[in-house]
Amino acid sequence: DWTMGNYIEKEVEDIRKLVGNRKVLCALSGGVDSSVAAVLVHKAIGDNLTCVFVDHGLLRKNEGDWVEDIFKNQFKMNFIRVNAKDRFLEKLKGITDPETKRKYIGELFIRVFEEESQKLGDFDFLVQGTLYPDIIESGTETASVIKSHHNVGGLPEDMKFELIEPFKFLFKDEVRMVGTELSVPEEIVWRQPFPGPGLAVRVLGEITEEKLNIVSEADAIVRDEIKKAGLDREIWQYFAVLPNIKSVGVMGDERTYSHTIGIRAITSSDAMTADWARIPYEVLENMSRRIVNEVEGVNRIVYDITSKPPATVEWE
Ligand code: XMP
Repeated sequence: DWTMGNYIEKEVEDIRKLVGNRKVLCALSGGVDSSVAAVLVHKAIGDNLTCVFVDHGLLRKNEGDWVEDIFKNQFKMNFIRVNAKDRFLEKLKGITDPETKRKYIGELFIRVFEEESQKLGDFDFLVQGTLYPDIIESGTETASVIKSHHNVGGLPEDMKFELIEPFKFLFKDEVRMVGTELSVPEEIVWRQPFPGPGLAVRVLGEITEEKLNIVSEADAIVRDEIKKAGLDREIWQYFAVLPNIKSVGVMGDERTYSHTIGIRAITSSDAMTADWARIPYEVLENMSRRIVNEVEGVNRIVYDITSKPPATVEWE
């Protein structure tokens, strides 16, 4: 009979048999699927697995350090973090179109990953956290367009790997169960979805380091307040957006002319449709007060009350 424990045992055994003493690479993003996949494969083959974490500098506040700490120090994996923020910012200079941003980020992401894996020498397998719905979806043309839109990267074309996809028959909630069984920290197992291009699609228009800092500080406050209010499992996604609007405000005796932050929070079961979350006013009030007080360069907060459709989850 099928239990989570049996499932893990069987997968571990299969991966061990398949890999033998060969080398396996994993592109770890810190998201639920790739993280749980890495931990599972690590359990099977230990140091024959190397995880490469490309930090494109578009992650949330402290996220890179946090991911590094979990996999390198807690799970003791072979873990390589590539700090590529400067390269990404350079590439994104002057780019305002959302799809061009995605395309450039995706391309550079693959290039950086390839460069790093070449430094490491030969690998025989690549771990992917592909889920069952990903496989079904990519069966149709519309779906594969959606996929390429939503996944940064994809497979480098001229890399000769065999794929290890331990979750290709599982759904997300089952992957969460596997993760929990494997003692993957709750903060990872229950993470909200985060787009591959990261904060790049939450800073509308041109990306600058200053704007990235503002949105990541504001976002950290939004997440903190949602967590404090105990809403983090109820709300599908919650984050801050920098719409690139400046407006007039007043602080002390002075007029200010500073950025607006948009707060987005939605309930959903699959992100295909979504409803704006009815966050209690007090929670919104705390977010608003804290962001204006704690984040320099912000003087106005708005809450997005559109559902999907007609709006999308992200603003870009
Ligand atoms: P939209 O904004 O299209 O988002 O309603 C639906 C879901 O997809 C996420 N999203 C992305 N994920 N790369 C990703 O990996 C992307 O370029 C991307 N754009 C949107 C979004 O956060 C939501 O969960």
